[in-house]
Amino acid sequence: MKVVLGVAGGIAAYKACELLRLFTESGHEVRVVPTRDALRFVGEPTWAALSGHPVTTDVWESVHEVPHVRIGQSADLVVVAPATADLLAKAAHGLAGDLLTNTLLTARCPVVFAPAMHTEMWQHPATRANVATLRERGAIVIDPAVGRLTGADTGPGRLPDPAEIFQVCLRVLRGAPRDLAGRKVVVSAGGTREAVDPVRFIGNRSSGLQGYALARTAAARGAEVTVVAANVTLPDPAGATVVRVESTAQLREAVLAASAGADVVVLAAAVADFRPADRHDVKIKKTDGEPEPIRLTKNPDILAELGQRRGTYPKVIVGFAAETHDVLANGQAKLARKGCDLLVVNQVGERLAFGTPDNAATVLVAGGDPIEVPRGPKEDVADAVWDAVAARLS
Ligand code: CTP
Repeated sequence: MKVVLGVAGGIAAYKACELLRLFTESGHEVRVVPTRDALRFVGEPTWAALSGHPVTTDVWESVHEVPHVRIGQSADLVVVAPATADLLAKAAHGLAGDLLTNTLLTARCPVVFAPAMHTEMWQHPATRANVATLRERGAIVIDPAVGRLTGADTGPGRLPDPAEIFQVCLRVLRGAPRDLAGRKVVVSAGGTREAVDPVRFIGNRSSGLQGYALARTAAARGAEVTVVAANVTLPDPAGATVVRVESTAQLREAVLAASAGADVVVLAAAVADFRPADRHDVKIKKTDGEPEPIRLTKNPDILAELGQRRGTYPKVIVGFAAETHDVLANGQAKLARKGCDLLVVNQVGERLAFGTPDNAATVLVAGGDPIEVPRGPKEDVADAVWDAVAARLS
């Protein structure tokens, strides 16, 4: 496929080199179109060598080839990463002072913007309005990640991980649906940890891969996504807001807060059913005699609580269940008991589920037929969930 990689003049331009490599190594033909200021950060020879194509910023070179029209017209995808506040403003207003802005005006293919800038600039009403305009016109604008910015400060404004931007682009190239546009979605991911003492905890093997696949795919389908991540060490999914928690109590609080006004809540996190009844304030020391047993107490069931509390929102509640035996019977009983709309049932074992990139599942549907998802990437399970959610929302 023919991809145009637009690069605007921001410090994150160096990360676009990695994005470029991901495209070229997967067989895409990439034309890099930097702005003049982008070349202050990464020079023309780097882009030319990595893309295998000549690189120019203005419309006055190779005029006989009419590049200001041709590059945009022939593209299957235009992705601008990083997109600066200035570039977003120019694109929203249709300015055409250089090759990149000309390309944006002539492109009729999908356009993805991955903004990166300081938090104040991202949150400024002018930028908000420009992003809203671009989205209204059908462009995909990936919300920046939250984290360390150029200086010592942190906040929303970081360019998402290049591999995450790449995944969004691949989905767009495949023509994936945008059927969650305007929907507010909450996903819990990872596994909770319950403190025994300041250095020890009771936890589980959940990596967060399935929850992050759900978040990534929902964002790519147009949703506004909040991920409540319990002890996940993966890169933030592109376009999602990540709230980090550790214990079940923290997860409960964050999920309930994020669920107010949400259309969909998906609880993919592996939540500890029990926690130590007494948390020791100091480290438990080895003693000569038998160790003290750890007494456990029950944690609140967040999924069941959401099901009971449900008013107008959330419209759709999705639970997960890992079962080792009588998978479908246990799953159907759990679906009814927890009061959710969909329950994704995994059979644990055979190298499926925890920590692996693949999964196979059955999506149980309240009042409907189960949907079998054959073994494949966790994105496939995620897409099957969103297909069923979108059907329920409409
Ligand atoms: N869950 C939750 N709060 C808990 C435990 C689980 O919200 N305290 C959610 C999980 O995120 C998951 C679903 O409930 O979406 C299924 O969890 P599971 O532990 O399998 O359900 P249980 O009712 O505990 O059933 P089991 O008897 O199999 O332990």
